Amino acid sequence: MKQKVLVTGGAGYIGSHTVLELLNNNYSVVVVDNLSNSSREGLRRVEQITQKTIDFEEIDIRDGDALSRVFERYDIQSVLHFAGHKSVGESVAKPLQYYDNNFTGTLSLCEVMQRFNVYELIFSSSATVYGATTQCPISESAPIGATTNPYGSSKYMVERMLMDLAKSDPQWRIATLRYFNPVGAHPSGQLGEDPNGVPNNLVPFVSQVAVGKLSEVKVFGNDYNTADGTGVRDYIHVVDLALGHIAALQYMEEHQGFEAFNLGTGRGHSVLNIISAFEKYSGQKVPFRIVERRSGDIAECFANPNKAKDILNWSAERDLKEMMEDTWRWQSKNPSGYS
Ligand code: NAD
Ligand code: WQD
Repeated sequence: MKQKVLVTGGAGYIGSHTVLELLNNNYSVVVVDNLSNSSREGLRRVEQITQKTIDFEEIDIRDGDALSRVFERYDIQSVLHFAGHKSVGESVAKPLQYYDNNFTGTLSLCEVMQRFNVYELIFSSSATVYGATTQCPISESAPIGATTNPYGSSKYMVERMLMDLAKSDPQWRIATLRYFNPVGAHPSGQLGEDPNGVPNNLVPFVSQVAVGKLSEVKVFGNDYNTADGTGVRDYIHVVDLALGHIAALQYMEEHQGFEAFNLGTGRGHSVLNIISAFEKYSGQKVPFRIVERRSGDIAECFANPNKAKDILNWSAERDLKEMMEDTWRWQSKNPSGYS
């Protein structure tokens, strides 16, 4: 039986792009996903692009019995763990759902991994674990835990659990990848982000304005202490992010313990930069209006990406032009996403 990489949440936005790069790197993949925020269509397109097949199991990772059957059925060597809820606003309204899915889900996964002697885990964390108190650029050695919402706290709690797990048994090989702001789409235009309802994040919102689904972008505040007064973030192309997972997977095949890596570009862009870059590279008008700050937002957040470069030999290569062009190719070819 060929050894497989298990990808939880592999039908989602970042998971599906990573599955594609895993297949391109000759890994054999089994995806588990409960399709709570995705559909089978993304993976069908990954199969079409790569001309390779993906084993798929529709299960919830909190169902330990169902997960155990997956570990019985396939020879799993390592796990990339994307499954979870990701909306900051929803997490404030429904904290228990977030702690349950993100924390209990990961606990359930780790229990099954331990039972089946599978010890390599790559976890999808977020720059949000650094919280509001950190100076930019942010290094992995900065304190974590000053989180400002249940989503961020659930990611922080998982990281704490994984640190303890790695300490408890040296067989564990765990990397937590702290993503900055993932954007963009596969250059084929076949694969991209398909948010439910009105997008919360800036780039999907901008692209839906450009395609005419929404009327204008609301810019949340222009009185921050930044060059143009609008919020600054470290946007990273989803294909670079996916390749960062391959680098982490390969590194952790050879290294024990727990390691945290920032996955960002190290460059910050303001909201107004993003809107004008999108207009330039899509050729579409993007009307916008300045409104009040969004509660919980910080002025700036960008990575020091040196650790991933030095240790994983990975760095983000795709610039704002590719991020915006690829977003627009996906959005204009698929105005209604996968549906
Ligand atoms: P996504 O919602 O597109 O993908 C998550 C996938 O997990 C979905 O396909 C969903 O159906 C599945 N899922 C959720 N709960 C599950 C469960 N209990 N059992 C099985 N499957 C389940 O989100 P994404 O943007 O691809 O994010 C992937 C991961 O990266 C998440 O853990 C998210 O918190 C993290 N992350 C995302 C961002 C971002 O901005 N997109 C930033 C930092 C971290
Ligand atoms: C970016 C900038 C907004 C929308 C969130 C999560 C984080 C991570 C990534 C998962 C900010 C401004 C936004 C809009 C705007 N996700 N903005 N108008 O808030 O940096 O990060 O997604 O882990 O945890 O918090 O991303 O895309 O929402 O905002 O002006 O309609 O755009 O104020 O400055 P954020 P974002």
